[in-house]
Amino acid sequence: MSRVLAIVNQKGGVAKTTTCLSLGASLAEQGRRVLLVDLDPQMNLSVSAGVREPLDEGSIVDWLTRGLKEDGNHRSFMPLNLRPDGLALVSGDPELVALERQLPGMTRYEFGLRDALEDVAADYDYVLIDCSPSLGPLTVMALTAVHHVVIPVTADYLAAWGLVQLITTVEKIRERTNPILDYSLLCVMFDRRNGISHAMLERLRGSFGERLWHTVIGLDTRLREAAAAGEPIVCYAPKSRAAQQYRQLAQEMMAFFENQNGRGIYAATR
Ligand SMILES: Nc1ncnc2c1ncn2[C@@H]1O[C@H](COP(=O)(O)OP(=O)(O)O)[C@@H](O)[C@H]1O
Ligand SMILES: [Mg+2]
Repeated sequence: MSRVLAIVNQKGGVAKTTTCLSLGASLAEQGRRVLLVDLDPQMNLSVSAGVREPLDEGSIVDWLTRGLKEDGNHRSFMPLNLRPDGLALVSGDPELVALERQLPGMTRYEFGLRDALEDVAADYDYVLIDCSPSLGPLTVMALTAVHHVVIPVTADYLAAWGLVQLITTVEKIRERTNPILDYSLLCVMFDRRNGISHAMLERLRGSFGERLWHTVIGLDTRLREAAAAGEPIVCYAPKSRAAQQYRQLAQEMMAFFENQNGRGIYAATR
């Protein structure tokens, strides 16, 4: 069964893209087949994975809309293979900006990504979707296509404010287009030398309990270097603290998702 996850937070710079690539690469290292989808027009995920141009084989824009358009083209779509082995990517495209404007005018646009994944999800154990920093139509599309949303949060006071709006959106999507949607929080960029961070982490733990992953990702500048080098952290600096923490997160998530017997959206496929 494939597990389909989106990494969402309407705030920018909270390690969504970093988490998507680092977690995906850690899962691939553990022998899982992983598909990453870059749903951000800024293409940060693709660039961090060393892919600077949209796919030649066809754009993500066509892939997302082919089920929505009457004349949709149905040729097969080939994600790019990356390092480590078992990691594949549907790269982003700046044209997603134009698509996002058109989406609300298309009937059942919310289901575009879910339809697109119907053909490919069975080939992967995990599909991770990197979202742009907004709760616009592309993010609604992502939330409709996934089993689970991972919300990266920093342990600072202001970060908590945006969470209310985000969780309200998740609840709306659950009522409207995706009844099985669940969510969790991941504490990122944690500064362990700062007392406020520890206090905020405790508050998050108090408010969200088991919805907050036990693994905490600390500050590590090697993540910036890895992104600039176009490589996942587990390849670029395999022994770094961040690589170890993302591996630990992968273990925690595998234990959680692979012990669940729930039938998800794409469960019938494998
Ligand atoms: N744990 C971390 N420690 C230090 N820098 C980080 C960490 N996680 C991410 N970064 C850096 O912070 C910046 C924003 O991260 P990014 O993943 O692009 O956020 P988002 O996708 O939410 O906008 C990037 O330069 C990234 O390399
Ligand atoms: Mg990003």
